[in-house]
Amino acid sequence: MTGIVVASANGRIGIEAAVEVLRVGGSAMDAVVAGTRLVEANPDDHTVGYSGLPNLLGEVELDASVMDGRGLRAGSVGALQGYQDAIDLARTVMDELPHVLIGGEGAARLARETGLQPKDLLTPEAEVIWRSRLGEEAADGSDDSSRRYLSSIREIVARTASDAELTVAGEPPHGTVNFLARDRHGDIAAAVSTSGWAWKYPGRMGDSPIIGAGNYADNRWGAAACTGRGEMAQRCCTAHSVVTFMRFGMSLKDALTTAMTDLAQLDDPYASEMNIVAIDKDGTPGAASTTEGKTFVMMTESMAAPEERPRMVVPLDGVSKSTLNRPRPSDSESNP
Ligand code: GLY
Repeated sequence: MTGIVVASANGRIGIEAAVEVLRVGGSAMDAVVAGTRLVEANPDDHTVGYSGLPNLLGEVELDASVMDGRGLRAGSVGALQGYQDAIDLARTVMDELPHVLIGGEGAARLARETGLQPKDLLTPEAEVIWRSRLGEEAADGSDDSSRRYLSSIREIVARTASDAELTVAGEPPHGTVNFLARDRHGDIAAAVSTSGWAWKYPGRMGDSPIIGAGNYADNRWGAAACTGRGEMAQRCCTAHSVVTFMRFGMSLKDALTTAMTDLAQLDDPYASEMNIVAIDKDGTPGAASTTEGKTFVMMTESMAAPEERPRMVVPLDGVSKSTLNRPRPSDSESNP
């Protein structure tokens, strides 16, 4: 049995290092962390780690998680400021603490206590992008600034969700990196890291640090991870759903399609691009997107280079709505 690593397209920069970990007998968990670490360090990726786009106040806040499919161990950090290595810190939470998720000040404290190197994550390039699209909501950290932001948050979210200029290696402005691996022993692991939605409200956490939403791995059935509008994956428990659908007998393709169809049912005025990568228990890879032209990368131990593959497309507006969005009788009474 040879190992395999699967990643979102922006994981291309780290996938060979991840496969190398498997080649020398390392675990799936070691592999996904090694791959993710390189994406977090990539200054050209404004959706993950160093050089990520900041929140409303110009602060870069990172979310990350790991899950070990053997024993379902997991760790995550959210709204981490001042440290690049969010994925290593998520692993520390899993390995060292009797907790799963540590957020904000606590996460920065843990990073300091465990000896991670502090770093200013806001690069000049990311700051220029942040300022250029802030418009009239100029963030100065004051209560006034927050009020202005709140009053125009709908426009900001809509504008940034559809801003094609902000895509990085095929990922949207609320992009993220996903790594999944299966090692020679059949152990499966998943890692997810992101700087979250650019211009987000301070402290906002998406799906990436939420086990079951943006990340799930179970040796018995497979693994899945998400990129895109995290609030959607949070509400549908998307990564866990994909794995559970396989548990109850669906093929990988059907599990992905069903999870995407669930996302399409959400009552969400900000619904935007969603993407999932997944593997089944044997390491067979698959991926889906709401958007045409999206890809993912995969590489086995026996391959000389990674392969970029198209994602299956399940458009949000191509799915018929179920009773979930049926109008209430009171709606028609008040709007005859
Ligand atoms: N999927 C990343 C986020 O919403 O923060």
